[in-house]
Amino acid sequence: MDFYEAVNKRSSIRDFAEEAIPEETIKRIIEAAYKAPTNDHFRDWHFIVVTDKSLMAEVLSGVPKDLTVKDVDKMTFISDPVQKESYQVAVPKQYSMLINAAAVIIPLMKKKVDILHPADLSHLNCFASVWCSIENLWLAATAEGYGCNLRIPWGNEEEAARKATGFPEEYMIPCFIGIGRPAENAKRTKQLVPDMGKQLHWQKF
Ligand SMILES: Cc1cc2nc3c(=O)[nH]c(=O)nc-3n(C[C@H](O)[C@H](O)[C@H](O)COP(=O)(O)O)c2cc1C
Repeated sequence: MDFYEAVNKRSSIRDFAEEAIPEETIKRIIEAAYKAPTNDHFRDWHFIVVTDKSLMAEVLSGVPKDLTVKDVDKMTFISDPVQKESYQVAVPKQYSMLINAAAVIIPLMKKKVDILHPADLSHLNCFASVWCSIENLWLAATAEGYGCNLRIPWGNEEEAARKATGFPEEYMIPCFIGIGRPAENAKRTKQLVPDMGKQLHWQKF
C-alpha cells in the first residue's frame, strides 16, 4: 500500500473479525516500529505481543468493563459534537476493543527520567520517541490490512499488565494496542478535519 493511502486509511478500529494475525506479519509491523526516530539512538523499546486469550484477560484485568455512553457526560473537557460522538463510540468499548483483538501489543519504554515531573521539555524525549514508534506500528498495521486501537493505562492497569507478563519495574507502558482484522461493520468515528487555510502558516503565523 502506498504511504499516503496508509496514512489516509488509518483510523481507530474497535471492532474486530475473529482472525489471527500471522506471526511473520506481526514481526514486520514491529520492525516498522523500530524504524521510528529516537532521542538517544538506543531504540531500547520492548513490545510484548499477547495472543493467548486467558493471558490477555489477566493483562487487561485493570481495564474497566462497564463504561457506558453515560460516562461521556461526565467528561467536562469535551467541547465539540464530533468529539463527543467519538467518545460515545469509544468509551463503552475500552475493554472489548482489546479483549476481542487478535493481539494486544504492549510497548514498553525504559523509565530513564521521571516523565511525570519533567524538569524541562527534553526530559519527555524518551516518551515522544516511543510514541513515534507506536505511530509507525499503526501505519504498518494499516498497510498490512489490519486495524489498531489504543488505550492509555489508568490507575492499576499498568500494574495488572506487569503482574501478568512479568516485565521489569524499570519499564513503563505508554499505551495498550489492540490489533486485528477490522470487522466488516467496524465503526469508524468521524475525523475532525483541520482547517489548513487557518492552521498552516507560511513564513509567519
Ligand atoms: C495519545 C493518545 C491517547 C489515546 N487514548 C485513547 C484511549 O485511551 N482509548 C481509546 O479508545 N482511544 C484512544 N486514542 C485514540 C483516539 O481516540 C483517536 O485517535 C481519535 O479519536 C481520532 O480517531 P482516529 O484514530 O480514528 O483518527 C488515543 C489517541 C492518542 C494519540
